[in-house]
This record gives sequence, structure tokens and C-alpha cells, in this order.
Amino acid sequence: MIVLGLESSCDETAAALVEGGVVLSEVVRSQLELHRVYGGVVPEIASRAHLESVDAIVAEALDKAGLSVSDLGAVAVTKGPGLVGALMVALSFAKGLNLATGLPATFVNHVQAHALAPFLSAKGEPPAESPEFPLVALVASGGHTSLFLVSSPLSFRLLGQTVDDAAGEAFDKTAKLMGLGYPGGRIIESLAAQGDPEAFHVARPLWRRGLDFSFSGLKTRIQDIYRQRQMDSEPADSKLLKDLAASFQAAAIDVLVDKLLTAALEAKVKSVVLSGGVACNEALRRQAARALGAEGLKVLAARPAWCADNGAMIAYLGAFQLEAGQNILDLSAEASPRWPVGS
Ligand code: KG4
Ligand code: ZN
Repeated sequence: MIVLGLESSCDETAAALVEGGVVLSEVVRSQLELHRVYGGVVPEIASRAHLESVDAIVAEALDKAGLSVSDLGAVAVTKGPGLVGALMVALSFAKGLNLATGLPATFVNHVQAHALAPFLSAKGEPPAESPEFPLVALVASGGHTSLFLVSSPLSFRLLGQTVDDAAGEAFDKTAKLMGLGYPGGRIIESLAAQGDPEAFHVARPLWRRGLDFSFSGLKTRIQDIYRQRQMDSEPADSKLLKDLAASFQAAAIDVLVDKLLTAALEAKVKSVVLSGGVACNEALRRQAARALGAEGLKVLAARPAWCADNGAMIAYLGAFQLEAGQNILDLSAEASPRWPVGS
């Protein structure tokens, strides 16, 4: 069955056609350039931009795969969590498609979908590894940082989550206070690669204290060092900025990897998955593979394009839900800006 996956929870409008975990085609329209000048996502601008693109990207995804609406077996759409006005765009589009064509439709939790992205594969390429349940999933993005025990695609238990900022939000805020631009993840990663991670002492928040994360203190610590050392006059490629970026990134990654390892050992699983925009970070992927590999655990990370927001992960989870008759979309479905996984 070919499932159309639709996503508009934040600043990417995305559509994908997925069949049995294989992505036949996909389109992701990023709004990055619209939001960059504001240093973050502006909800009203996001909703309008989704509305302008949603029908065009669906047509483009069908076109790329050489298919038409009559070839589709179902529609899956993000219902939450996310920005309410942004979510409403794809949700309304899916309701319209369901009403007009009678295609079965299902609504999906965005964070749950992120966790399954490592099991997607692209048409014409070797298939992805099959999931070995139970597993532990780390989803770290601009809006979420959570650890789950996953027993099946539809069975998630929250093990820990951030008590304040998400990991990606900490990268973004730290980059902003260092005058480096938006979004901060990739900028910090490339500066950090040239810096000394031990140049500044940065404590690891909630170190070895449970499975919850805290990232806001990390950002404040970097801000203090930046101000004390009067780095605002430093050129963007200065050694000091590189060292500060490296010191921040090392602390953030140490915490993510240590809690992922603890969760995996406590849950006695054999494999873990990494997803969400922060999992694009190569240093995080390397450190997780090293630390968990040393304990005999397998680490599977979504490919970078599927770590970030996309329609393929929505279609993938949607197919399991449709098979189980879960989360059936009808006209009464409303966007759920706060929707904890598993509730
Ligand atoms: O999953 P995503 O595309 O959107 C949300 O659902 O939030 O994640 C975006 C977040 C941003 O905060 C961005 O700075 C972060 O992921 N990010 C990274 C990297 N690439 C993106 N963080 C660290 N290192 C990266 N290379
Ligand atoms: Zn996301």
C-alpha cells in the first residue's frame, strides 16, 4: 500500500510517498530563509508559508514518483505536537483528501514518527535494517529531547525527557548568543570541529542523575564565559569562539550519549536508535557508536535528511497505525500542539 505522508508541524512543509518502508518520492520545502532574520521560527509566518506550499508539494511528490492520487492507498498526517496554526495546514489538507477521495487516513504523533525514521530506506538502495524490538530511541530536535523504550512501532514508553530547553534549542540559543546565526546546530558543529573541547570548564547538567535532561544551564554557562572573555569583538573564525563552541558541544553530547547508554543498559535492550535534527550531528553519531558499541549495543541513526522533519517518517508510522486500525482521521480531529507520545 502506498501511503502519502504529510508534515507541517514547524518550519518544513513535507510530503512523501512510502510503500513498505521504502520512500518512493519526497519533497521537503524548508522555510529557513523566511525565519532566519528573526533568529527563530515565527508561527504566523510558518502557517502562511505551509498554506502556500502544501498542495504544490503533494503534486510534486506524486509527479516525482510518476503516480496519481488514484494510486494511493492511504494518507497519514502529523496531528501534533507542534505549532497549532502550522499543524492545521497539513491536517486540513488530509481531511479534504479523505473527504474528496474516500482514502483511509490516519493521524500521527510527530515525535513517535521521528523515532522510527532510522528504518526507512530509499527506492533503488539497499533496504534499511529491520528494527529489533525492544529498543531505546533518542529523539533530539529543536522542540524535543526524549528517551523512549520502544516495544513495537506502536508501543512507546517515555523513559526521560528534557525538563527545560530541547537539545536543538540549546544549540540554536548558544549560537545566537555567540553571534553565529540561525539555526545553530550545524554552525556550532563546524566551529566545534576546529576547537578544543576542554578549553573551558562546562559542567554536564543532571550528570548521572536519572534519565531526564536539562540544557538551559549549559547555555547560561556559555553566555557567562562569552561575556567574561568579552568575545563579542572576536572574528567569527577566532580560536576562542571555536574553543567555546567545542566546549559547549562536548558537554551537550556527553549528556545525550551517557543518558542514552544508561537507558539502554537499564532496559537491557540490544539496540538503540538516534533521530531528530540534532542526530544530524556527526560528533554525536560517532560518540554514541563508540560508547554504546563498547557495551555491545548496536546504534542505528536515521540518515541526516530523515533526522530532520520529513513526510516519509509520518507515512511509515501511519502504515502501522492503519494496519492496526489506530488513530483514524475524521473531520473531528484537531491539531494537538502538546501531545505526549503514548497518550
Ligand atoms: O528535527 P528538526 O529538523 O526540527 C524539529 O522538529 O525541531 O530539528 C531542528 C533542530 C534545530 O534546533 C537545529 O539546530 C538542530 O536540530 N540541528 C543540529 C544539527 N543540525 C540540526 N544540532 C546539532 N548539530 C547539528 N549538526
Ligand atoms: Zn521534528
